Amino acid sequence: MSWKDIYENKLVTAKEAVSKIGSNSRVVVGHAVGEPSELIDALVENKENYENVEIVHMVAMGKGEYAKEGMEKYFKHNSIFVGASTRDAVNSGRGDYTPCFFYEVPKLFKDGYMPVDVALIQVSKPDEHGYCSFGVSNDYTKPAAECAKLVIAEVNENMPRTMGDSFIHVSDIDCIVEASHQIIELKPPKIGEVEKAIGKHCASLIEDGSTLQLGIGAIPDAVLLFLKDKKDLGIHSEMISDGVVELVEAGVITNNKKTLHPGKIVVTFLMGTKRLYDFVNDNPMVETYPVSYVNDPTIIMKNYKMVSVNSCVQVDLMGQICSESIGMKQISGVGGQIDFIRGASMAKDGKSIIAIPSTAAKGKVSRIVPLLDEGAAVTTSRNDVDYVITEYGIAGLKGKTLKQRAKELINIAHPDFREGLIKEYENRFKCKF
Ligand code: COA
Repeated sequence: MSWKDIYENKLVTAKEAVSKIGSNSRVVVGHAVGEPSELIDALVENKENYENVEIVHMVAMGKGEYAKEGMEKYFKHNSIFVGASTRDAVNSGRGDYTPCFFYEVPKLFKDGYMPVDVALIQVSKPDEHGYCSFGVSNDYTKPAAECAKLVIAEVNENMPRTMGDSFIHVSDIDCIVEASHQIIELKPPKIGEVEKAIGKHCASLIEDGSTLQLGIGAIPDAVLLFLKDKKDLGIHSEMISDGVVELVEAGVITNNKKTLHPGKIVVTFLMGTKRLYDFVNDNPMVETYPVSYVNDPTIIMKNYKMVSVNSCVQVDLMGQICSESIGMKQISGVGGQIDFIRGASMAKDGKSIIAIPSTAAKGKVSRIVPLLDEGAAVTTSRNDVDYVITEYGIAGLKGKTLKQRAKELINIAHPDFREGLIKEYENRFKCKF
């Protein structure tokens, strides 16, 4: 049978597809802007037919209806990264959160920790050989599809076709639902004076020929603003956004000096506007791979001059970093922060940066604190941390004693909070600042 016949035979409606899901199944759902929204809507619509269907995913960009109050009758919600639409479920006890390094998520699925009954994925239209691309979201979605008992795919004509290890053949999909909605777009963040100052400090640590990992949001975008005079930068990153396109077009990102995958941007997922999705479509310069490869610290370390830039909620005076909770309240997840901090640290001439505004909550609280809030998760340990940057400067913590670290951090805290932090320093270390 030709792949076209296989494709035609597997075509069903979203309703028909989700009716194949049984109660007590674990359903792994594609995430971020790759979320298969029509399948999720159909799943929620079909709720009366389910009991105890576990929904597992990372960054939830959609409506998150399955996690709303009242849905616990039908669905058990298990987040590996908490987002706006799932935060309330996780913190109210209705849902739950599984701590895990991003690069190890496929291992949870494949090695029996969290066996996958159903994978709900969104992919591109098949190419002339019958292969669909995972497009904007390869990450854990491809590995989940590889080990699921039932694979249901939303085949979207608007999903860009990304290269790399990013394909699934139509014969490996059980049910196909055609879709034609636009891929979710993320508007570029507002970059203020604080972010610009942070971006400038970060850029001062980035040498020509470096390979970069940048997270999402105003700070990574501000860093990109200050890289316009650099030469031959490369990208090996969990994700990319629109800022990268600009630097490719400006000839700053060439990937030519990369020591792993020279000439290529390597990512596991991407989120941005249509401009980014058009840029990556069928572009041999951009390769996506499963997160078990891209975020593996032993792979990341093969990039000489690897620089990672991530953010956090709080850092204590020892350099312990909390990036995912405000006290006990889980607000996000570990994602790939430690994967990249460790990979960059192991790389020849690598550096890792935690970049934060010095305050939060409209200036009411310092992010540099004597102790993390009660119940806060230590995302990055004090042994892993390298540079911390605020709008007031750069603190280099690697190789520094507890007292030296505390001094470095107090010197980049917001001036309104420095006096209080100095008192804490003097109490703790029984010596003058
Ligand atoms: N005390 C009280 N509130 C705090 C706070 C603190 N120390 N730190 C942050 N907040 C509040 C902010 O004020 C903001 O509130 P608002 O939404 O009401 O304005 C909210 O928490 C989010 O903080 P903010 O720093 O603005 O969020 P962000 O979008 O820049 O994301 C992280 C920062 C740390 C949450 C995010 O980078 C993350 O999840 N990191 C972990 C994962 C990771 O690093 N992945 C790898 C890269 S993709």
